[in-house]
Amino acid sequence: MLSSSFGSQKNNSLMNEYASLLGDAVLRHRARLAEHSARMEAELAGKVKSEFISNMNHELRTPLNTVIGFSKIIAEQDRREVDKSKVIEYANLIHDAAVHLLTLINDILDISKVQSGSYTLDACELDTRAILAQQISAFREEANKASVEIIQRLPEDLPPVRGEERKLAQIFGNILSNAIKFSPSGSSVKVEAARLPNDVVAVVIRDTGGGMSADELEIALQPFGQVDGSKTRRREGTGLGLPIAKSLTELHGGEFEIRSQKNVGTEVVILLPSRQQVAMARARDTALGKSAKETGETAQ
Ligand SMILES: Nc1ncnc2c1ncn2[C@@H]1O[C@H](COP(=O)(O)OP(=O)(O)O)[C@@H](O)[C@H]1O
Ligand SMILES: [Mg+2]
Repeated sequence: MLSSSFGSQKNNSLMNEYASLLGDAVLRHRARLAEHSARMEAELAGKVKSEFISNMNHELRTPLNTVIGFSKIIAEQDRREVDKSKVIEYANLIHDAAVHLLTLINDILDISKVQSGSYTLDACELDTRAILAQQISAFREEANKASVEIIQRLPEDLPPVRGEERKLAQIFGNILSNAIKFSPSGSSVKVEAARLPNDVVAVVIRDTGGGMSADELEIALQPFGQVDGSKTRRREGTGLGLPIAKSLTELHGGEFEIRSQKNVGTEVVILLPSRQQVAMARARDTALGKSAKETGETAQ
């Protein structure tokens, strides 16, 4: 009797000892894992930061060098005996570089306005079809250069949407430029619009390019996020197009969705609410006491 109770006491203390050893081992393992993941995160943050700095460096310096170099040649054309046709070519290069820089600066200002919540809409009734058609023709030359065909299906009876023309053009332009940029030569990009129930207008821009995995898509939607931001990157950009397009769509009371599959392609769906829905949402916000700043629209 005594010996069996002594035996179970001994077992218990052994069990306790094992339990505390095991507990310590688990704690040590967790601490090692936490330390490892913190180190990995810090390494990743450092890598993203240095890629971002080197991209911005490239994005800002390249057009500025074009402006500085070619304007100097034009200024010295008499001494250098530069042909008139060359002068025109250099002036066009300077013009394109300056437009590129202005777009970049505007994008940076836009994303900071979006992030500070100080963006407002100067809204009126708009024809989505006309804005899409204008963007398609603006990107036609770029698509031709990349041997990418743009196929459009834009019905004439789309209901009007309430929005700001420049901002809707920016949304469609950003998505169309990505679709062309990431499409292989010889493929096609489809731009479609449709009327959905409640007069919602759906715009779908589809490509059959490299696509993105779920993790890559998460990076791509972050400001300055690029899937391959390294120096080996073939294509230009700053990683602001997608987050700006998404925020601007939401500012219009719309929805922005991307479906992408690696090596299959990408489909971006933009849903824009009808003017009645926008009016309903504004009435609801007013009834709930939200300010114009919160709803993002300036009074008309
Ligand atoms: N249609 C697409 N197909 C494949 N990758 C895309 C597509 N659109 C965007 N991406 C990825 O998302 C990143 C961010 O896009 P975006 O914000 O427009 O910035 P940028 O075009 O300046 O790189 C791109 O660099 C690219 O890696
Ligand atoms: Mg882009």
